[in-house]
Amino acid sequence: MDKKYESLFTPWKIGKVEIKNRIVMCPMGGTSLFGWFELTGCHFDKEAAKLFLERAKNNVGLIIPGIAPLKDTFWGKWLWQNPKMFEELKEFMKEIHKTGAKLFIQLTAGMGRSWAITELVAPLHKNKITRAIVKPIIDTSHELASPSAQPSRWAHDIICPEMTVEQIHEIIKAFAKTAKLCKDAGVDGVEVHAVHEGYLLDQFSIEFFNKRTDNYGGSFENRYRFAAEVVRLLRKAVAAITLYHSVTQ
Ligand SMILES: Cc1cc2nc3c(=O)[nH]c(=O)nc-3n(C[C@H](O)[C@H](O)[C@H](O)COP(=O)(O)O)c2cc1C
Repeated sequence: MDKKYESLFTPWKIGKVEIKNRIVMCPMGGTSLFGWFELTGCHFDKEAAKLFLERAKNNVGLIIPGIAPLKDTFWGKWLWQNPKMFEELKEFMKEIHKTGAKLFIQLTAGMGRSWAITELVAPLHKNKITRAIVKPIIDTSHELASPSAQPSRWAHDIICPEMTVEQIHEIIKAFAKTAKLCKDAGVDGVEVHAVHEGYLLDQFSIEFFNKRTDNYGGSFENRYRFAAEVVRLLRKAVAAITLYHSVTQ
């Protein structure tokens, strides 16, 4: 091997996790291991798993599948409510580890005003009655909930609702519960999809989008409180797992 590439094949560490080389497969939405935006609801995605196992066998040191929303877009199930999915994940992690690769799961609080509402769903959301009818299938008010009431990034005539404190707390708890299940399934680390590309936790951190007057808006500390509380509770829940806390991209 050319000497200039040798350092690519040296080990390094994130927290306590040693990664065998510098080759990282970055998260790309659409490659979630739990299915996402699929009518079938959250499930262990065997096709995505095949892709990642192939990459692991081809010497990728660290694999991070694309963002995994904590709550399923269709049918409103939280990831932690699907034990079968985590059992299948456990079997898959054994195969990943046979290759010497490590795998982190990137969990996301959601999209808020950046949730890509489609032309099909927008009219259903705008009408109070159809919004209520489709709620058990797709809860648009949950998906669009943002730090403050404001227009959707994709459809300016749709006003996203302000997230309640109860909703914030539910998401924080879901991070902790899901991370614990990932840990028990043998996952090597959890990445908090945090202050990234205008998604929900990012919106909370930016004054322009966050006009709240409670503990989750205003000062710097308040705007980062949601993300900080996620990390705090998550750490408590998983203790030893590596926390790859993404604050910048
Ligand atoms: C199609 C696509 C989807 C992406 N999805 C995610 C994602 O789910 N989470 C994330 O943190 N970054 C996401 N990114 C950003 C990538 O992980 C990566 O940081 C970015 O592409 C820069 O790396 P590159 O220069 O190797 O492309 C995505 C990028 C692309 C192109």
